[in-house]
Amino acid sequence: MADTNAKLTVNGEEYELPIIEGTLGRPVIDVAALQESGFWSYDPGFKVTAPVESKITYIDGGKGELLHRGYPIDELANNAEYLEVAYALLNGDLPNAEQKADFFEKIREHTAVHDQLRKFFEGFRRDAHPMAIMVGVVGALSAFYHEDLDVSNEEHREITAIRLIAKMPTLAAMSYKYSQGEPFMYPRNDFNYAENFLYMMFATPADVDYEKNDVITRAMDKIFTLHADHEQNASTSTVRLAGSTGANPYACIAAGIAALWGPSHGGANEAVLEMLDEIGTVENVPEFMEKVKSREVKLMGFGHRVYKNFDPRAKVMKETCDEVLEALGINDPKLELAMALEKIALEDPFFIERNLYPNVDFYSGIILKAIGIPTSMFTVIFALARTSGWISHWLEMHSAPYKIGRPRQLYTGETRRDFVEVEDRK
Ligand code: CMC
Repeated sequence: MADTNAKLTVNGEEYELPIIEGTLGRPVIDVAALQESGFWSYDPGFKVTAPVESKITYIDGGKGELLHRGYPIDELANNAEYLEVAYALLNGDLPNAEQKADFFEKIREHTAVHDQLRKFFEGFRRDAHPMAIMVGVVGALSAFYHEDLDVSNEEHREITAIRLIAKMPTLAAMSYKYSQGEPFMYPRNDFNYAENFLYMMFATPADVDYEKNDVITRAMDKIFTLHADHEQNASTSTVRLAGSTGANPYACIAAGIAALWGPSHGGANEAVLEMLDEIGTVENVPEFMEKVKSREVKLMGFGHRVYKNFDPRAKVMKETCDEVLEALGINDPKLELAMALEKIALEDPFFIERNLYPNVDFYSGIILKAIGIPTSMFTVIFALARTSGWISHWLEMHSAPYKIGRPRQLYTGETRRDFVEVEDRK
């Protein structure tokens, strides 16, 4: 659908570069013609590069807008369950009643993990970070589902998506239980997705009267929804890049989990709490802010590559945070500290000039802490929720012809061509 062309002149040669319009957002310039020009495009950090066309998620960073399959994130978070959102990400639209019942049933059928997988946990030290365990055990799923899995088969791809979404809460809870030295809890299929996760996290076999808490369940489900997808971020791009080689999808998701772990990405929610611990009390905020401004440290939970106005997920997350803290009657000094930090940052020219606002991770850590989730599990929960987004992008890539992802480079190394004996080499 090229409306018009851009023109690029290099070394006196003119190249026509088609401009392609999407349904929303900036059009793109198709730079494929550079192939003949003798030049590559150069864009460290993919700041201006769209490597894919996608119908799943749209972000307008300037407006602070996030749409999944066209629906605004706040509408989804307030009116739909996470699994309905996952269905929409996978299939293009929210499910009707029949589709919902069918999808939920399929997820329930696949919540358990192969008993042999338990052995993998035992290979880890008890103090291993749960994200390290998740990279390992989700990657290990590829050994359980490999021989019979044909990524060119649509049914095989669909069951892979179901299995992954269904098993992530089980594996996430197992990684926590293992760190606590407590027995793994089997999933209870009379519970909904969020209830089941909380049950597997917090119940013990002795707990015959385990009681669900609706406020916590709803908050957990919202947290899942708010993390479900975020278009071509670092971890999703990793999943696509790994998937572009035709690799096993469970291994691709493990690669996504690894990419998510970093503090610039999903690891930020854990880093926010660590930062609050380091600051200690409200009186220490000004001193900490000086360190931020002198670039000694970053204010974790602030800033975003795409959002330069506000993060719409953070808005819903803040409301949920208030609800949870009120319902649970929690008056945590950490929260007071977080709010003082937020206030100062929002008024400070350093942050205003750089368009730095609280992102989703600033508030999610506070809610997760309030509902008793240990800090080391924060990013695991992000990974659990993001699995529906990752696998939707993997499915989208595999449902049409695709090319292996293979970027170019600007080589700035040595130019020696002849072998020169180095003194003392032997
Ligand atoms: N604290 C202090 N200064 C910051 C921060 C921050 N959190 N983020 C950006 N800046 C400054 C940065 O130093 C730079 O200043 P200057 O132009 O004077 O050198 C300017 O703002 C632009 O920053 P940038 O590094 O070019 O921005 P980016 O788009 O490459 O980075 C980011 C985006 C999210 C990696 C970064 O803002 C950051 O590290 N934030 C803290 C970590 C965090 O909260 N990450 C979670 C992101 S949301 C969850 C997710 O989707 O993964």
